[in-house]
Amino acid sequence: MNLEELYLKRQSTRKYSDKKVADEDLEKICRLAALAPSAKNSQPWKMFAINGDKAAQFAHCVQMFGANGWTQHCPAFIVIELNRGKFEEKIAQKFTFADFAGNDIGLLTAHLVLAAENMGLQTCILGIRNEKEIAQFLGEPEGTRFPLVIAVGYAAEGYEVRPKDRKPFDEVFKLVK
Ligand SMILES: Cc1cc2nc3c(=O)[nH]c(=O)nc-3n(C[C@H](O)[C@H](O)[C@H](O)COP(=O)(O)O)c2cc1C
Repeated sequence: MNLEELYLKRQSTRKYSDKKVADEDLEKICRLAALAPSAKNSQPWKMFAINGDKAAQFAHCVQMFGANGWTQHCPAFIVIELNRGKFEEKIAQKFTFADFAGNDIGLLTAHLVLAAENMGLQTCILGIRNEKEIAQFLGEPEGTRFPLVIAVGYAAEGYEVRPKDRKPFDEVFKLVK
């Protein structure tokens, strides 16, 4: 699959088959994602791969306001922890460096979902999540930030690649010359 095909095929997948996801594949996805660029190469993240029985136990952490119920049958998750060093934290408070961290997490996530798709695995980025419950689940300190969770698995049989629903291109692009 070339990069263009990968962009067209990647989509939010909300129904997964029973096929298990190999631990090694989750690790490989995270290894590739960790190559993402970040402000000052700060790499303000840590990734937790949740697989097997633990995934079913974790699902409640991303089910809120009646949303994301489908994640109960999702075979694996990758949780992204915002892990800024003390120095970046100081700069963040002084110079709104915080926005950089948001960008960094977005870049990591983009690398992650495309790496997964390239390995034949589907994903869905989850912004609806309960950070307090996630911290408890992972045994991380209260107050730890978990900006995004990624659902990972093999799409259910017959789950079709949808046409992309995007704004007209001329609304989001202008050539200046
Ligand atoms: C930051 C972010 C948070 C999202 N949160 C959720 C979520 O909690 N649940 C969900 O089903 N989809 C979620 N999505 C998926 C978006 O709805 C989806 O990416 C968008 O509609 C475009 O569709 P596509 O991913 O299939 O191309 C999220 C996407 C992003 C980038």
